[in-house]
Amino acid sequence: MRTLISNIGELVTNVDADGDQCGILRDAAVLIEDGRIAWVGPAASAPTTHGQETEVVDAGARAIIPGFVDSHSHLVFAGDRAAEFEARMAGEKYAAGGIRSTVAATRAATEDELRTRLRGFVDELLAQGTTTVEIKSGYGLDVNTEERLVQLAAEVTPEVTFLGAHVVPAEYADRSDEYVDLVIGEMLDACAPHARWIDVFCETGAFTVEQSRRVLEAGIARGLVPRVHASQLGPGGGVQLAVELGAASIDHGTYLTDDDISALAASDTVLTLLPGVEFSTRQPYPDARRLIDAGVTVALACDTNPGSSFTSSMPFCIAIAVRDMGMTPAEALWAATAGGARALRRNDIGIIRPGARADLVLLNAPTHVHLAYRPGVPLVRQVWKDGERYP
Ligand code: NIG
Ligand code: FE
Repeated sequence: MRTLISNIGELVTNVDADGDQCGILRDAAVLIEDGRIAWVGPAASAPTTHGQETEVVDAGARAIIPGFVDSHSHLVFAGDRAAEFEARMAGEKYAAGGIRSTVAATRAATEDELRTRLRGFVDELLAQGTTTVEIKSGYGLDVNTEERLVQLAAEVTPEVTFLGAHVVPAEYADRSDEYVDLVIGEMLDACAPHARWIDVFCETGAFTVEQSRRVLEAGIARGLVPRVHASQLGPGGGVQLAVELGAASIDHGTYLTDDDISALAASDTVLTLLPGVEFSTRQPYPDARRLIDAGVTVALACDTNPGSSFTSSMPFCIAIAVRDMGMTPAEALWAATAGGARALRRNDIGIIRPGARADLVLLNAPTHVHLAYRPGVPLVRQVWKDGERYP
């Protein structure tokens, strides 16, 4: 089965994207075949549709962009923390310790409850244009529950991250090194077969740099690739550690030092900014303009989780990045698609070129600029994932 999408007013390809350009073609067409992009070019020279069964879609001169690549989420959990959010809006401060209340709810949930909730989130993301999502464990914090969480995540995405070192669970209070022993021992044994990535929350109130190093090195020894939560609540050594260990990404980076920025700029480590977190915790937005100008590769992701950021909307994150972080609409869109792909070390997504996965979003808008220009408006009209169309 082939699909020809024609009459595309603006096609954002991300091919040869450079600075403020994201490989835009006008009056374009795209041919999808067997779940992959087969052809991209001017609508006037689109391949003929006779001969083979081809569905023809008229984009109505609207914009098409690559599907969003949300490279940071915590989608397997139970309960919510709306009361905590409400208190924060009334002046309370966000603290990493809130994670423990979600751990209690998640441990108490059945596998089916977790699966149903997870699948609901994946549908919610897809409806908003997210065609790839990375999912972390980290609300189990015991061997059996963490194993269950990575297994559930693996049912819906290949981008599974083992985050047993999210916080120290209550039963290990004051014994954090012993908890790290468990994470890098029995828990890693149980989880590594289902995961691609290893993560740690390297932050005051979570894990020290030395503990984080033990976690990441143990993961690397098992074939997992590191990605690190760091500098979310204050500056710390997590960024330097991540760069030293060749992490694919450091995530948050709300409080970066000049040395962190130089280290990131000189490395292959992507900086994944999570504006939903600053929004929901009332922290200052990072200055993405300064980071990009310094040569840092920036991705944008939602960090969907019940504590620090309960949005699953990449357009919402793009709008904040443009409005409050100094990114141009093209840079923000690149960061939410190709940037996410870079953070996941994937070259088959986040880009519209022959051979790539047919993950596309048709916007109810003439250009990608509307994603930031019309915040809060559901502009995602249609989504193709692996060539399959939703809805
Ligand atoms: O990415 N930083 C650590 N983990 C999550 C927060 C999780 C929570 O508050 O439940 C985050 O912000
Ligand atoms: Fe996170």
